[in-house]
Amino acid sequence: MEFSIKSGSPEKQRTACVVVGVFEPRRLTLPADLVDRTSDGYIGEIIRRGDMEGKLGSTLLLHHVPNTLCDRVLLVGLGKERDFHEGQYCDAVRAAIKTLQDTGSMEAVMYLTELPVKRREMEWKIEQTVVSAMESTYRFDRLKSKQEELRRPLRKLTLSVSRRNELALGEEAVRRGVAIAQGMNLAKDLGNLPGNICTPSYLADQAVGLTHTLNLTAQVLERDEMEKLGMGAFLSVAKGSRQPPKLIVIQYDGAGRSQKPIVLVGKGITFDAGGISLKPASDMDEMKYDMCGAASVLGTLKAVASLQLPINVVGIIPSCENLPDGAANKPGDVVTSLSGQTIEILNTDAEGRLILSDALTYAERFEPELVIDVATLTGACVIALGHHASGLYSNNDALARELLHAADYSNDRAWHMPLWDDYQEQLKSSFADMANIGGRPAGSITAACFLSRFAKKFVWAHLDIAGTAWKSGANKGATGRPVPLLTQFLVQRAARKRAER
Ligand code: BES
Ligand code: MN
Ligand code: ZN
Repeated sequence: MEFSIKSGSPEKQRTACVVVGVFEPRRLTLPADLVDRTSDGYIGEIIRRGDMEGKLGSTLLLHHVPNTLCDRVLLVGLGKERDFHEGQYCDAVRAAIKTLQDTGSMEAVMYLTELPVKRREMEWKIEQTVVSAMESTYRFDRLKSKQEELRRPLRKLTLSVSRRNELALGEEAVRRGVAIAQGMNLAKDLGNLPGNICTPSYLADQAVGLTHTLNLTAQVLERDEMEKLGMGAFLSVAKGSRQPPKLIVIQYDGAGRSQKPIVLVGKGITFDAGGISLKPASDMDEMKYDMCGAASVLGTLKAVASLQLPINVVGIIPSCENLPDGAANKPGDVVTSLSGQTIEILNTDAEGRLILSDALTYAERFEPELVIDVATLTGACVIALGHHASGLYSNNDALARELLHAADYSNDRAWHMPLWDDYQEQLKSSFADMANIGGRPAGSITAACFLSRFAKKFVWAHLDIAGTAWKSGANKGATGRPVPLLTQFLVQRAARKRAER
């Protein structure tokens, strides 16, 4: 989809559809009122007849509105004006785009972007609208023998700003929205691909593929190199699989050598059957999504590189399968991690923390400014937070605050969870430095505590995305989260760096 920014009156737009808002009950917004005046009260008359109350998310498509230059006018209900906040803005935009997709307009000029939204400036509205519009066109049908074509898809969306001097900033916001949505699309595609296609080697090829079109470099470490390094925790998980494990390192250098990189670590288990501690059969197919952390790291690097942000970012992706096999990890096995710490594997299904521990230690060699790992780590996180917020853990409160702000701004929410030492006791082992599970209570927290033992040398945060990375049920599919959160965080960091200079 193509986007542009414009400033001008709705009644003068020569387009297939002009989109304007109506508050409840039956209150025209300024652009709707302008169309009403030009059309000698045509809109007001329709509203008086009771066809559009202004309920949030309702729509009414009008043809041949008198004296206008457009083919159609789409009225969008906004709900009560005093309840109109960011959530309502996003709902209204989604409703408008859905109607545009379901009806005949292939282009439209949208005036909802001019509505005041508390706490949010014009750039936020533009960015959100672009992301919503691109999300509405996402399909994953490449594995079906026939692809369904949209009859008359929306091709071009023009977003209106109220003042001419906002055009340049508006265009910047469009670029950010497009980059975020494209990063999300990559993360969704990789997530939705099944385990027999999206293998560790496939993920590695995808990372290398990104370097062909963007300013990125990639390096893939093979099993023998990792053996030499001593990645005993990661490689133990890969033992039960016939697919070779890969450690993917992808780098974006947008600032000088002197600037320390931000390292993103993504869990890349391309299928998690649980290993010898086998998972139950129901919904096991969803464990193809156990590489969504990795996918979001690749999506974020894609977004950052296409925005050419003036920062350095490194993505580290440990990737393998977790399967039962004669050679697989067994409960009770003790392995030595790259850090030198030994781990008793009491449950082979707690494999994410094993591969991440070595990846975190590996991150040290980049002398990072900070490290953020992203992982579909625990079912317990889904029980704690459901599907709305990712679990956020950090050894640094300032970093946690910064991430929460990015999460709030990008509408990709996270919730700050405790990492108190009290929980560390649950990881005690009789035979090794630690066990890889901490029992039933606080399962998401003890997993984060486990990781924290490998993140002592840097500022670190962990995002447990088990509840947010994909949707189950009739609309099963990857969400592309937390690409918006991570990209927004890096955009903020880049802005801070610019200001410091
Ligand atoms: N990938 C799973 C976590 C998961 C499970 C995410 C279900 C989303 C939905 C992870 O590897 C895992 O199996 N974790 C175990 C840990 C337990 C054995 C301590 C879990 O959450 O059950
Ligand atoms: Mn598991
Ligand atoms: Zn897993």
